[in-house]
Amino acid sequence: MLALTFANALNAQNDNFNSGGPFNQACVKADSLDATFNTAVSQMEYALQCAGEAPARGSKAGKVFPRTIGTDGKLVKVGPLDWCSGFFAGSLWQVYDFTKDPMWRQKAEQWTWAVEEAKSYRGTHDLGFMIGNSFGKGYELTGDTALLNVLIEASRTLISRFSPQVGCIRSWDFNRDRWKFPVIIDNMMNLEMLFRATQLTGDSTFWHVAVTHANTTMKNHFRQNASSWHVVDYDPQTGRVRERCTFQGHADDSYWSRGQSWGLYGFTMSYRFTRDEAYLRHARRIADFLLSLPNMPSDGIPYWDMKMPEVEHAKPSQPNASVPRDASSAAIMASALYELAAYVDAATSERYRATADHILGSLSTRYRAPQGTNYGFLLLHSTGHLPGNSEIDVPLNYADYYYLEALMRQRRWSQALR
Ligand code: GLY
Repeated sequence: MLALTFANALNAQNDNFNSGGPFNQACVKADSLDATFNTAVSQMEYALQCAGEAPARGSKAGKVFPRTIGTDGKLVKVGPLDWCSGFFAGSLWQVYDFTKDPMWRQKAEQWTWAVEEAKSYRGTHDLGFMIGNSFGKGYELTGDTALLNVLIEASRTLISRFSPQVGCIRSWDFNRDRWKFPVIIDNMMNLEMLFRATQLTGDSTFWHVAVTHANTTMKNHFRQNASSWHVVDYDPQTGRVRERCTFQGHADDSYWSRGQSWGLYGFTMSYRFTRDEAYLRHARRIADFLLSLPNMPSDGIPYWDMKMPEVEHAKPSQPNASVPRDASSAAIMASALYELAAYVDAATSERYRATADHILGSLSTRYRAPQGTNYGFLLLHSTGHLPGNSEIDVPLNYADYYYLEALMRQRRWSQALR
């Protein structure tokens, strides 16, 4: 049961699924995977140096979390209420997971507690990113109940943004003159913390919110070809869809790359917890849409948006070099594909893993920052918000987080296939 071995590693709670049987693909060699990860570990040591000391536990953290590099070449740090606050700690946890070195655990703990203030912040839907990927990752690896308590409190805070009329957690509070109840595809990612909160407390309220949000999103956020809109705005009184549009993408009907990856990851993860076949079918449709994009550059790293006149007819072998890529989207996609590969038949599993291996190969060889540069960020060439003229072709801490996660998943596959 190879897939089961892998799914267990992902804390799957229910092994009643089709393992897909033995795979015959020669997997990437474990030694070379470890070498790749070790290079990342060295760079993360440099990232720690650049970040400086974590704030003392219990003190109010200011702008201390490395997020990206600014146009002035300086390290951009954000505070605990920024949606990216938890990724640095989450990356440190993943290095600890790989090395099992207590030094990394100590650093991960310090940087995790610096995020604590976010647990009661009701002004964001991103608490899954902020708390789930820091406190949650730490709890999975240590079983420390102090970390768990923060995750539960954050989950309570997050569900305060849920509307039963709409059937979703509200994403944003800005643009109130235009949007009444905006929900973005990214929000699927925050459900993981809620599923975990129910598993860990037995309180089904979190689960109910997560499932309802996923069902509403599956119904309203996707086009016929399984691509997704970025923003769906709802009428908060009736739950009716008011508008479907974009904020970070090229156009309302375009394929904003990271959004497509969030959707893939979100429905794969939702299947992990619920075993609802509708989520699995949906995740597969998204994966198949992404894998069949005729203009995907041959290295597997998408443009920041895949549907724009500049790239629509670009050949994979001759990508338009003037259009920025999004390495973060690629890393999220690779990580999701490794998980999805555990839930499908052997041939499909092999195809998904081969794609994820290809993406990781490209990221590791052509998108990595040279050792000791770029303030310790791992990946170059991500795009945060191009229409906002923000974070274009830069390192981003969440690209690094999902890259490390994908590397760990690749390693688990390699072990499962041995
Ligand atoms: N909202 C998270 C992102 O920019 O993908």
